[in-house]
Amino acid sequence: MPPVLYCCDPLNPRRVDEHFAPEAQEVRAHGGEVALIDHDRLLRGDADAAIARVPSGLESAWYRGWMMPSVRYAELAAALSRRGAALIVDPGRYRTAHELPGWYPTFAEVTPASVWRPTEPGEMVEAGKLTELVQPLPPGPGIVKDYVKSRKDEWHQACFIPDLTESAGLTRIVRRFVELQEDYLAGGIVVRAFETFVKLESVAAEVRVWWLDGEPRLLTPHPDSPFDRGLVPHLGQIGAAVRRLGCRFITTDVALRSDGVWRVVEVGDGQVSDLHRSSSRGEFAALLVDS
Ligand SMILES: Nc1ncnc2c1ncn2[C@@H]1O[C@H](COP(=O)(O)OP(=O)(O)OP(=O)(O)O)[C@@H](O)[C@H]1O
Ligand SMILES: [Mg+2]
Repeated sequence: MPPVLYCCDPLNPRRVDEHFAPEAQEVRAHGGEVALIDHDRLLRGDADAAIARVPSGLESAWYRGWMMPSVRYAELAAALSRRGAALIVDPGRYRTAHELPGWYPTFAEVTPASVWRPTEPGEMVEAGKLTELVQPLPPGPGIVKDYVKSRKDEWHQACFIPDLTESAGLTRIVRRFVELQEDYLAGGIVVRAFETFVKLESVAAEVRVWWLDGEPRLLTPHPDSPFDRGLVPHLGQIGAAVRRLGCRFITTDVALRSDGVWRVVEVGDGQVSDLHRSSSRGEFAALLVDS
């Protein structure tokens, strides 16, 4: 029964962050142990201070809380190891599941074709370089994101690219994306071929599948879904890719393509994936506690 390290409330470091408190309470109710880390301090680069409240003598622990860049996760792991504790998900595996270039090769057959290029925050890639980058993608529409996140809420301005072969539009959308991401741009830019997914009342019906040790243990609506229930996905080929990836706890967001094939929109590390408001915190806690 490994302990779970939750983010503390920024205003009250003795308590679990409000967003995760109901879940942490369920972990305790299921007999699990909870400890606290300070996510703000971690992001500021002070990992030792961030784990000051973690008791010594923990052997291995799950992290559960807000996303963090892969380098910060590695710092968290290093600070914990100085206190004799290990994260169950090592930094290499966190990065693999968290960043598209980490998981893409393993999921290539079940996810939209993608290309990427490392860039610094604010770096404006030349139009010619972008044309070259998207060369391997089929002509037609695409989307831009960074290694972790898109700006899907600014769809027409900074996410959806109507025609990848039209250089001016491609450059404009990618640049706007980079500009809006500011210092939060993670890793670099990713361009993906657009696929048409089935929608429920005009909202893409994504299902978040929670995989523990290669098994789909929980199906929830995507956290942004207005619906409490979704379609039931076929996971055969997707499950095989999950097992090849070899990460203990991940999520796959899956959507039904218009031709009836279930596709992976995105992979994530289960420790930092959000739950839908309707999902049972108890069921989720039981999963972690019994792992
Ligand atoms: N290749 C694609 N084809 C069609 N639609 C896509 C594609 N990639 C992303 N989308 C749409 O854009 C949305 C955002 O993409 P994605 O999930 O990759 O970004 P995100 O910002 O990480 O989102 P999340 O909120 O899930 O973390 C998806 O939910 C999906 O509706
Ligand atoms: Mg997503």
